[in-house]
Amino acid sequence: MSNINQARQRSVVLRQLLNHHSYQYYVLDEPEIPDSEYDRLYRELQQLENQYPELITADSPTQRIGDKPLDAFSQVKHEIPMLSLDNVFDESELLAFYKRVNDRLRLDDQIEFAAEPKLDGLAVSLLYEKGLLVRAGTRGDGTTGEDVTQNIRTIHSIPLHLQGENYPQLLEVRGEVFMPKAGFERLNQNAIKNGDKPFANPRNAAAGSLRQLDPKIAASRPLAMYCYSVGKVEGLESVETHSEMLDQLLKWGLPLCKERAVVKGVEGCLKYFDKLSARRESLPYDIDGIVYKVNNLHWQKQLGFVAKAPRWAIAHKFPAQEEITTVNDIEFQVGRTGAITPVARLQPVFVGGVTVSNATLHNMDEVERKDVRISDTVIVRRAGDVIPEIVSVVPGSRKKGARKIKMPDRCPICQSDVVREEGEAVARCSGGLYCAAQRKESIKHFASRKAMDIDGLGDKLVEQLVDAGLIDHVDDLYALTVEELSGLERMGEKSAQNLIDALQNSKSISLDRFIYALGIREVGEATAMSLAQHFGSLDKLQAASFDDLQDVPDVGPIVASHIQYFFQQQHNLDVINKLRKVGIHWQEVEAVNDADQSLLGKIFVITGTLSGMGRDELKRRLQSRGAKVTGSVSKKTSAVIVGENPGSKATKAEQLGIDILGEDELKNLLG
Ligand code: IVH
Repeated sequence: MSNINQARQRSVVLRQLLNHHSYQYYVLDEPEIPDSEYDRLYRELQQLENQYPELITADSPTQRIGDKPLDAFSQVKHEIPMLSLDNVFDESELLAFYKRVNDRLRLDDQIEFAAEPKLDGLAVSLLYEKGLLVRAGTRGDGTTGEDVTQNIRTIHSIPLHLQGENYPQLLEVRGEVFMPKAGFERLNQNAIKNGDKPFANPRNAAAGSLRQLDPKIAASRPLAMYCYSVGKVEGLESVETHSEMLDQLLKWGLPLCKERAVVKGVEGCLKYFDKLSARRESLPYDIDGIVYKVNNLHWQKQLGFVAKAPRWAIAHKFPAQEEITTVNDIEFQVGRTGAITPVARLQPVFVGGVTVSNATLHNMDEVERKDVRISDTVIVRRAGDVIPEIVSVVPGSRKKGARKIKMPDRCPICQSDVVREEGEAVARCSGGLYCAAQRKESIKHFASRKAMDIDGLGDKLVEQLVDAGLIDHVDDLYALTVEELSGLERMGEKSAQNLIDALQNSKSISLDRFIYALGIREVGEATAMSLAQHFGSLDKLQAASFDDLQDVPDVGPIVASHIQYFFQQQHNLDVINKLRKVGIHWQEVEAVNDADQSLLGKIFVITGTLSGMGRDELKRRLQSRGAKVTGSVSKKTSAVIVGENPGSKATKAEQLGIDILGEDELKNLLG
């Protein structure tokens, strides 16, 4: 056999294999081979076709992307018009639809419906002649659309040739082209990164992509399609119901939505509606309602059409997720971690099933990108339980003199300086200990185990104390009385006394823990330890210059500026003074020589109970010499420190051949 014949046979096999695996992957979502194997087969076919161009067929998987951009789209005529659907918005309107249908059909039994998600994309018609995809057109005005065949061919889930044997001579399939949410997010992130304008929603992105004259651009867009009906058909063996017809389309290799179901009567429709509404946000694509179609095709014919919509189908729409309203004001909110967020106060509007009067603008970059100003008319979106947000300003709605907003210099709650680090989108209030908006979080942190370690003062109790007005700042903790505490819900006299004792005990603390307890941004335990050891006293730390701070191992310009800001806020200094006054004290630490970075670059894991010192203490000592302490053993681990009753980490270290240190070796290591 000649080479070309061998190549021809192999190319037939490869095309079949590739089409089969595409169908498994894109239509059924059940891949049978890894992507790398698919790529290998694809490249093999590509090489054969390069060598023997006469082997290329129109439906070869290598031919999805055409090579030339179009000058303009030509027109397609829909012999059978592409209709639209009437809508209902609630149960009573749905009942009225059911009654209209039943009055015509006069059935004793409940009517069966095919229920399907109403996909939020754009309607497209695909024409298959003898199984080959020959044309694809948009709906357009229903009778004339645009020829988007080149772009439709780039959608991997759409077969270029139908599968199986018994497909009709001529088959026009209709369905919705859409952009899955994940692909949309990726596309927009890239657009923002490249300084391009992002799309407002997946529907617009899908429409924009389908209308690209250059098929290479369309091919780079993550489009998908689900089929939901047929148009012109010649030579189809009879099927009785819409749902059977869709099953048949799936067998011919066409992509179908997995969520479709057959339901009975209004009750069945509503149940399906509720079920899918609850799952709406977690579906990987946008839907804007449910479509119910009388399932029996004979009855569909009997019911016929009115004007532009069938009598046998209805769209049950979800409440709109986007509405138009005006921006009355833009204010700044301070979150629990000090993040300052611009929030638009809106003219109240009903959207996504609730009345919305506020929408987040996230941060100033976002405000600038969307260029939202007070008095603008905007599109607000509320999807599911997601916080309402402003999608965009309605073009041309800007009133004369509409001012740009500016991030305030001072926190609107506590008047501390607002800080925005270079390269960070979020601006923050620097009054960590003082600011009412951050109070609860700063008190929780202050009391936590690795900070002041106040036994019995958990997050819930902190919330209770602040809500009851018993404490405002951390220093107020030390003025609490047994009487005040035992007045709280679920707090007996005994636990109240225990807490007072724990507070008393916490007054004697190590300097590094106290520094950590202050909750300075980006000052974790290890940095607090380095600072304590470097400066030896709080006064010296407070007085340190920007350059002094950067002499500390682990402290770069960002952390240094956080520390400086913190100590520049008079409010924070007041709180520290009050803490000193109530008797909080620490042993001055003999400033150690930071030069002992003998463990720099080493990574330790600790497991089991150590008799000589607590785990936190050991961790600090290792870190002060430049080591890192992590929670799990990997190839990167330098050594595992093993105490009594070690866990599986010791075994894992053994398996990986990593050094194991007992308490004696540890003593040697730390000198
Ligand atoms: S059936 C004559 N089924 O909704 C029947 N349409 O408002 C016409 N749509 O133009 C369409 N999902 O773009 C049908 N499962 C679905 C649908 C669906 C989305 C769109 C379609 C149509 C529009 C009508």
